[in-house]
Amino acid sequence: MKFFLDSAKLDEIETAYEQFTIDGVTTNPRHIMMSGKSITTVMKELATWVKDKNLSGVSKFPISIEINPHLSTTEDMVTEARKVAALCENFVIKIPSTQAGMQASRILEREGIRTNVTLVFSPAQAIWPARGGALFVSPFIGWKEDNGEDCRPYIENIVNIYKNYGFYGKTEIICAAVRTPKQIVDCAISGADIVTAGLAVYQESVKHAYTNQGLGIFCNAWDNTKA
Ligand code: E4P
Repeated sequence: MKFFLDSAKLDEIETAYEQFTIDGVTTNPRHIMMSGKSITTVMKELATWVKDKNLSGVSKFPISIEINPHLSTTEDMVTEARKVAALCENFVIKIPSTQAGMQASRILEREGIRTNVTLVFSPAQAIWPARGGALFVSPFIGWKEDNGEDCRPYIENIVNIYKNYGFYGKTEIICAAVRTPKQIVDCAISGADIVTAGLAVYQESVKHAYTNQGLGIFCNAWDNTKA
């Protein structure tokens, strides 16, 4: 299973790479806004970072960049995606799961520009990017669970549909907006290819209260063991 960092902040990406050996990065306009930098600056920083880390390359460390969300026609999306993709070979273009987006993803993949179809909220939506040869599909988990929905069946349905038709492993399923360690486990049990989450979620996932309690017990025993 692969893990991506969902962030546009370079310090977080660096930490997640060193401490959690993340396999890629996903960003979105909200993350760019939260970085306090312009999208141009963030893209430049990311392109330089992969070069410095010796991670440049089409199949090495995918970084998903979302195109302007105001674009609503296939033509506009394709034009913008080509410009963004030309900036760094690691960039994968995030395209919204709309009818125009589906077509844009298909056109771009045919040209060798990799896409991540995002804002997917149903198994039906997830079928189209796979048929169009998208590299990634991003079903959102956290947003649905925040509204009381159990996402296990949602992910399992997408995985099963992909298995039924030979899409599994070709269009990789990125469970996006993952907010808790439990959601990571649900994604893993369901057979998702990738989880993308913020640094705090990964940090939380290595913790357990019993681990701390156990350490206390062992420290106490250590200190009271005969020399
Ligand atoms: C994934 O690619 C998206 O960027 C992301 O998971 C959305 O999550 P957010 O709710 O943290 O913005």
